[in-house]
Amino acid sequence: LSDLNLVIAIDGPAGAGKSTVAKLLAERLGLRYLDTGAMYRCVALAANRAGLTAQDGDAAAALAQGLAIDFGAGDPPSVWLNGEDVSEAIRTPEMAELASALSAFAAVRIELVARQQALVQHGGWTLEGRDTTTVVAPNATLKVFLTASLEERTRRRHNDLEERGMVVPGDLARQIADRDHRDYTRSESPLSVSKDALVIESFGVSPGDVVDRIIAHLP
Ligand code: C5P
Repeated sequence: LSDLNLVIAIDGPAGAGKSTVAKLLAERLGLRYLDTGAMYRCVALAANRAGLTAQDGDAAAALAQGLAIDFGAGDPPSVWLNGEDVSEAIRTPEMAELASALSAFAAVRIELVARQQALVQHGGWTLEGRDTTTVVAPNATLKVFLTASLEERTRRRHNDLEERGMVVPGDLARQIADRDHRDYTRSESPLSVSKDALVIESFGVSPGDVVDRIIAHLP
């Protein structure tokens, strides 16, 4: 556990608990935490402000190249886009939708994956997102695929939105199912379980216990 060159990648569908687990794991092991989804959300926010839509993948990728995306202190870490704190603005259901749509474009992924690989290349990171075990960090020290049923993931997202005082869409389960479908079936880096990933079903298991299981599997 003293190996600070560790890279731990946490993969899985929306609402499986990736962020909670990755943050806790980073804290426990003294690793830095990279939320790759926040980077896709930043591209979505910038695209939206530039008047682009879900179909404008190439324009969004071109826009992405010029964006400064940074993470600050805080729990969860604050997210900065071109010097502006967008921690809240990127967490709306609209930005989740647009991020999901734009992340299906190869040009957008190429830009963000390159940045993510540059960040974690020297180790000391836990990174979280739905291509981290297959594309961003296939050589990670440990790769984890977190799962939970659609019902359980909907329940968590519901509580999460409510806690943050946000409107809970009436068709939340449907939105998550659609997002799953898009993430699993897209031609560019579809969500998939890497062969050598540790698969953890998180229903009924506390985040702390999930973290214990991950740590127990470290080489
Ligand atoms: O994880 P989060 O919900 O913040 O991600 C927003 C969207 O960005 C996801 O629905 C997914 O489509 C996309 N994404 C991705 N690859 C990642 C992280 C997120 O395609 N590594």
